[in-house]
Amino acid sequence: MQGTDTAPIELFDPDFVRDPHPILARLRNEQPVREVLLPRGLKVWLVTRYEDVRAVLAAPSVSKNVRVAQELFERHNTNPEARRMFSDALSAHMLNSDPPDHTRLRRLVGKAFTARRIEELRPRIEEITEGLLGAMAGKDEVDLLDAFAFPLPITVICELLGVPQEDRDDFRTWSNTLLSGSRDIEMVSGAATAMAEYLTKLIADKRANPGDDMVTALVQARDEGDRLDENELVAMLFLLLVAGHETTVNLIGNGVLALLRHPDQLAALRADPSLLHGAIEEFLRYDGPVQLATFRFTTQPLAVGGTVIPEGEFLLVSLSSANRDPEKFAEPDRLDVTRPSGGHVAFGHGIHYCLGAPLARLEGEIAIGRLLSRFPELRLAAEPEELTWRVSTIIRGLETLPISPGRPA
Ligand code: HEM
Repeated sequence: MQGTDTAPIELFDPDFVRDPHPILARLRNEQPVREVLLPRGLKVWLVTRYEDVRAVLAAPSVSKNVRVAQELFERHNTNPEARRMFSDALSAHMLNSDPPDHTRLRRLVGKAFTARRIEELRPRIEEITEGLLGAMAGKDEVDLLDAFAFPLPITVICELLGVPQEDRDDFRTWSNTLLSGSRDIEMVSGAATAMAEYLTKLIADKRANPGDDMVTALVQARDEGDRLDENELVAMLFLLLVAGHETTVNLIGNGVLALLRHPDQLAALRADPSLLHGAIEEFLRYDGPVQLATFRFTTQPLAVGGTVIPEGEFLLVSLSSANRDPEKFAEPDRLDVTRPSGGHVAFGHGIHYCLGAPLARLEGEIAIGRLLSRFPELRLAAEPEELTWRVSTIIRGLETLPISPGRPA
């Protein structure tokens, strides 16, 4: 039922990348807590059941402190090159911190991301959405990710933070590389350096020319006292920018794909747009943008799912697996836009629960709602089997999503 198995789980295997669910179902049944070897030689414990995933994410003895991680990594890892993966300037952010640092960092931006503050962005998000959909009208075929699902959230987060729009393609390249889980250490650390240099320059610009934006507010918080240091400032911007767009693009992409592959669900949603709110939760559960929560480390032995994980070990929890656990969700492999929503862990759980969840939900709802009403004939322009999924341990998303918009309404 548990423990080490020498049979590798290939998280990069093309079959797993295309459809991880058969393997995840087997793990939930047979080895819900087991060790796996990652490509860079790192041994981690993979947790796949819903209850266990929630328990790990909420356990106070489970740390996210990046300094603890680095020590552990060096102890575990035989490849000296791989150590460089942890030592970049982008690490000192809330998702790599435990309380009290986590509490302090999250509080600095928390107010800007409440559901009420985010609702104020609705008119602007609608305007950006309409502009992008307008540009798609009349085309025979477009890549929905490139034309719509990517530009929408990056435009919103760049405007919120005060990052010049023209820099967004650079961001896309760097953050794709950083989240790819690539084995090419040169490439990954090159992208991290480029990102850190860019953000340092942006901070200097805002110091010289303050604006009415979040980067300026954070620079002022930095300069007014000891609330965050320069490294933390760079890392905060990095986290907000990457988390702010890498995920929502795939809520839109995976959600639209799920609908186009399930015409009955699409018809139900078109017939009753009031289902949209719950449908977004179902897309998050069924094929959420984040497959694995980021690394955690045990600071004490941890009993989970009948296994005791010793102190000083790395943990990965599978959010995709938890969201398809039949112990929690009836007929979990069925897409059902009328399913009573709630309980999924697509935004994580515990103190690191996604700060941007209200923004992601609003963007997803406006984007998918407007897309469906603008294009009643919307259809896939490729066979589902031909679609390519991104090879990434963290992100679940397509490389491209070719669609034919059809005549606009
Ligand atoms: C954390 C998912 C959109 C900002 C997280 C976590 C998940 C997640 C699973 C927890 C990771 C962990 O515990 O290891 C998602 C999904 C999104 C989304 C599925 C879109 C559908 C956003 C947006 C922002 C954002 C739009 C905006 C800035 C953050 C931040 C954290 C976080 C700052 C760290 C919170 C902390 O450490 O306290 N997100 N996210 N996310 N997310 Fe999101």
